[in-house]
Amino acid sequence: MALTAVKGFNDILPEESGRWQYIEQTARRVFELNGFGEIRVPVMEKTELFCRSIGDATDIVEKEMYTFTDKGENSVTLRPEGTAGVMRAFIEHKLYAQDPIAKLYYMGPMFRYERPQKGRYRQFHQIGAEITGVNDPLADAQVLNMLTAFFREIGLTEPTLQINSLGCPDCRPAYRTALRSFLQERMAGLCEDCKRRFDTNPLRMLDCKVPGCVESTVGAPSVLEHLCKGCDEHFSAVRRYLDHSGTPYSINSRMVRGLDYYTRTTFEMVTGLLGSQSAVAAGGRYDGLISQLGGPAIPGIGFAMGLERVALLLGNQDFGTQPDLFIATMGAGERDVAFRLMDGLLKAGIRVEMDYEGKSLKSQMRRADKLKARFSAVIGENEVASGKTSIKRMADGIQTDAALTVAGIQSLVMKSEQ
Ligand code: HAM
Repeated sequence: MALTAVKGFNDILPEESGRWQYIEQTARRVFELNGFGEIRVPVMEKTELFCRSIGDATDIVEKEMYTFTDKGENSVTLRPEGTAGVMRAFIEHKLYAQDPIAKLYYMGPMFRYERPQKGRYRQFHQIGAEITGVNDPLADAQVLNMLTAFFREIGLTEPTLQINSLGCPDCRPAYRTALRSFLQERMAGLCEDCKRRFDTNPLRMLDCKVPGCVESTVGAPSVLEHLCKGCDEHFSAVRRYLDHSGTPYSINSRMVRGLDYYTRTTFEMVTGLLGSQSAVAAGGRYDGLISQLGGPAIPGIGFAMGLERVALLLGNQDFGTQPDLFIATMGAGERDVAFRLMDGLLKAGIRVEMDYEGKSLKSQMRRADKLKARFSAVIGENEVASGKTSIKRMADGIQTDAALTVAGIQSLVMKSEQ
């Protein structure tokens, strides 16, 4: 049987990787502008890290982790998300000792054993950013503005930002009680998962997509009406800062997150263009996580976006891996000249391709078309003798004379980029 990739694990082929690099480069540029530095952490961690951070009663920990015992009898897990590992590293290396305010970003593969479909995979990639050490709602607003700036810079008007507050350990228990007493009378209409969630994680019931559960939760109490004074003021300040910046958002008080570490502000960037996989990016505040993992009482906030989902939204645009110039030769005699010219142009940073196989001029030009070269030049005996060639712009066929030198061709190709 032919060997294929594991289900839900994808290859990113060269035709797609230009788009991926564009997304990654845009994120690096926007994040670094905001003072974030890159952190690279392992793809595998001790299983306990994810149980203690994401939460034992979440779908991720209950059903979706790639957990196994290694040869040393240790339980290890392929990371299902980035925040836990980044905070583990923050604590382990005592990054807070120099400065409790750390601005960290990361990108790489994550692993969840979910049912694969468009926009949902078992190996997927996140680009994430986290700020530690700031309680002030300014940090929430900066993170949200940065995420909004990323989507603006990349040229997407979808997705749109939704925000909510999930309260804190002081006010959430009362909300949970209010929600439970509302749902208690509607238990008959709930799915089996939600019946279980009633005891373990009732907020997740608001997020269930099963029609009976959606119907049963209509009119459920709103978390925003149960916030304590501190959480309420925090949420108002976040909104005020977003208004100051002109950042568009809407409030979705039914938004709950699939990870237990969140406190106060939570958010998602949602789209209607990817079917049921509507969240393109998501995150929130996690003021208790660092201490929960054995570190000092330092707050945090951050987000992660799904690279595959951003790539799907960008669609099949061209991301510029095509050559600037294709050099065709009339005969074997000109190949030395063409090769030297290609070598010089490559050293000058111009993307050049030439014929490698001594093919006919016609098939060389077909290849120039196939590679989507911006310009082509033909070199024959006459060009070598005169020291001149004519450079054809492939889009409209317009020809311009140029000296058969690196400088002559370079200036023409560069000029047309401006
Ligand atoms: P999350 O909501 O679980 O949050 O994932 C963030 C994003 O990762 C989602 O919005 C989605 O775009 C993408 N994603 C998740 N699962 C899949 C999948 N199976 N296939 C494709 N894309 C997927 C977190 O992971 C948090 N760590 C975010 C965060 C950072 N919160 C604070 N800081």
